[in-house]
Amino acid sequence: MAVMNRLSEMPRDPIVSFALSCQNEDGGFGGNIALDSHLLYTLSAVQVLCLFQAEDQIVDKEGLFNWVAALQREDGSFQGDKWGEIDTRFTYCAMNCLALLGQLHRINIPAAVNYIMSCQNWDAGFGVSPGAESHAGQIFCCVGALRIANAMDRIDQDRLGFWLAQRQLPSGGLNGRPEKKADVCYSWWVLSAMSVMGRVSWIDSAALIRYILSCQDVDDGGIADKPGNWPDVYHTFFGVAGLSLLGYLDVPLNKINPVFAMPPEVIRRLKIPEANGGEP
Ligand code: FPP
Ligand code: ZN
Repeated sequence: MAVMNRLSEMPRDPIVSFALSCQNEDGGFGGNIALDSHLLYTLSAVQVLCLFQAEDQIVDKEGLFNWVAALQREDGSFQGDKWGEIDTRFTYCAMNCLALLGQLHRINIPAAVNYIMSCQNWDAGFGVSPGAESHAGQIFCCVGALRIANAMDRIDQDRLGFWLAQRQLPSGGLNGRPEKKADVCYSWWVLSAMSVMGRVSWIDSAALIRYILSCQDVDDGGIADKPGNWPDVYHTFFGVAGLSLLGYLDVPLNKINPVFAMPPEVIRRLKIPEANGGEP
């Protein structure tokens, strides 16, 4: 709704109080009240609160910052929660969340960058961990984290851009790795990384717009992963986000920020230096 400039049509106060009530005593946020804290839900909660200019209402800010920072391991990687699974998604979640709140200094950025680089493969893509298959979702996370760390010079953007451009299929849709079917959510995972690298023109935008639109359910308005499937909120967001990056929505000055997955006015309001190449 924010990407479509319609956030005012949402019930702000109940959404904000629900998000706030998902903070646990350890400082992290769970996916619902009294569920275990995890970096995935913590980033979501912080994004929702920032969208509604409610980040100052976070009850235990210091606890939140300490909880996120404590999930970084010595090799620079991040575990998602106290149980210890490691994934490049979690590096991105930690860095996005701390950057939104102006707290990146809490973590070891050079170590995080070195860990991300250890997850890069011979084909220029990135996986969940060192040696794991290149996957466009992880590439979004790794490129986003490198951009927040102002470390884009660590990658060969032409080679990675080429791998990402190869994700477009004859249907116009994008897949997440070779031999997979097209799926609307990759309109975001692939395109956002290409946008950060200034290479959106390497794919056929008109064909991708047609593919995303063909996945909209004409009865209820939502967007599905593939034409004819049931729509869901996840693919609706990524379809709209893709259309935003492609300049298709009728809010041309409101293109979603491809690093933070947030509307540009939120990034401007929060004055995030990392959104500006590290310059304040
Ligand atoms: C594909 O998942 C997507 C990923 C692996 C990236 C997920 C990234 C996050 C959760 C970070 C937060 C994201 C945002 C936008 C702020 P999948 O399980 O659908 O993969 P599959 O297509 O291989 O099944
Ligand atoms: Zn999908």
